[in-house]
Amino acid sequence: MNTAFAWSPVYETGLAEVDAQHRRLVEMVNEVTAGGAGDDAAAQTALLDRLVDYAAHHFADEERLMAAHALAPVAVAAHIEQHRAFVAEVAALRAHQGTDAVDGAALQHFLASWLAFHILGTDRAMAQQMRLIAEGLAPAEAAARAQGERDGAAVQPLLDAMTRLYGVVSARKEVLEAQVAERTAALQRERNELARALETLARTQSQLLQSEKMAAIGQLAAGVAHEINNPVGFVSSNLGTLGSYVRRLLEVVDAQAALLAAPASSAVQARLAQVLEAADLDYLRDDVLALLKESTEGLDRVKRIVNDLKDFSHVDAADWQMADLNAGLESTLNVVWNEIKYKAEVVRHLGELPPVPCIAAQINQVFMNLLVNAAQAIAGHGTITLATRVDGGEAVVEVADTGRGIAPEVVDRIFEPFFTTKPVGQGTGLGLSIAWDIMRKHQGSLSVRSTPGVGSCFELRLPLDNPQYRNEASHA
Ligand SMILES: Nc1ncnc2c1ncn2[C@@H]1O[C@H](COP(=O)(O)OP(=O)(O)O)[C@@H](O)[C@H]1O
Ligand SMILES: [Mg+2]
Repeated sequence: MNTAFAWSPVYETGLAEVDAQHRRLVEMVNEVTAGGAGDDAAAQTALLDRLVDYAAHHFADEERLMAAHALAPVAVAAHIEQHRAFVAEVAALRAHQGTDAVDGAALQHFLASWLAFHILGTDRAMAQQMRLIAEGLAPAEAAARAQGERDGAAVQPLLDAMTRLYGVVSARKEVLEAQVAERTAALQRERNELARALETLARTQSQLLQSEKMAAIGQLAAGVAHEINNPVGFVSSNLGTLGSYVRRLLEVVDAQAALLAAPASSAVQARLAQVLEAADLDYLRDDVLALLKESTEGLDRVKRIVNDLKDFSHVDAADWQMADLNAGLESTLNVVWNEIKYKAEVVRHLGELPPVPCIAAQINQVFMNLLVNAAQAIAGHGTITLATRVDGGEAVVEVADTGRGIAPEVVDRIFEPFFTTKPVGQGTGLGLSIAWDIMRKHQGSLSVRSTPGVGSCFELRLPLDNPQYRNEASHA
């Protein structure tokens, strides 16, 4: 590749030990930069390491020598600074070796040039000072004289300039490295801030999910109140009527008792006849029984709603359990009945399902979100079809509607939190994202098929065997 660094007498300082070490350094520079080591990064790095070791050893010797000869401190400090800069520079090159930033030619250039300039300029001036001090000059004077001689020689200013230039390059690199370190620290800070922001976001999301749940419960409570209000209304009106009937009957009873006490009195008989007529016993007989029957039915309805509500929310068991999905679908349907009854006819194709491991309260919440969406998607009057079956190792539940359907360009977005096409106040855009999340936690799935203008069908799948349930069961 490049021409080798040829030793020449101009490099001699006259100090035998120093000159020997310089020769060795020149040889090593030639080894690093020639001999094909450039093809083998590991070999070249090893050579470079040896060169740095040897240079450090040589610099230490020189620095000892300068101390032994009591050279002027300013000259010694400047000299040592050059050594230090060289070591730093080579360490940096070594770190980047094998990267595009450092090619073999540039490396050789740097090593050979630095050594040449350093020996010709600084080391020879050092040797000169040692000789002058040995001749009896004071260190400062020797330093000044050596400096003066160098200024007299034509090449010296050039050597000094080059040496300074290397110093500047090294110093500049150190500044750059400091800047890189600072940038890295700034990036790290930004990353920490991002992590904090993400955490806040996650917290906000879970708060929102909570508030969506509260909203759903509010909606649910309103529907249930309406459902209960109606039977309670007529049962209490029936009780009022029954009260007046009972009063009339009691009057008849009283009149009969009076007749038994005074059998001959026609006045008493007349009174009984009057009371009997007023009581209208024939009508009363029919109506009392009807009222009782109606009231009993009304109370049964209230009881069923309360039971459905209990089943729906599973207040008794909020944990993993083996649940009947058909029953869950029914009780959820009853709970949201108020939302659905004016919008759609409900058709059931419920197949036989084995008990499915799940957190039933959560699965019911999924049913509820799908049912409410289905009802909301129907503009006039339509049909909601519920179907269940087993497919492979999964229970499958379908909630299909004849609503407006979902446009193909948004179908990928409906499970996103906050995605809604409904007016503000009506849609939070969280129903499906919550449902999706619940299904994911159950290792199940939720998907949709939809045709705009025809309807949508949401399909929910739950594994029949769930390791999470088995874990829970074994801990219980
Ligand atoms: N059965 C459905 N038919 C048509 N569009 C639906 C249906 N279910 C969900 N969507 C669409 O998905 C969006 C997101 O639903 P959801 O997450 O429940 O939020 P929200 O009901 O509050 O808008 C709805 O705004 C609607 O555009
Ligand atoms: Mg919804």
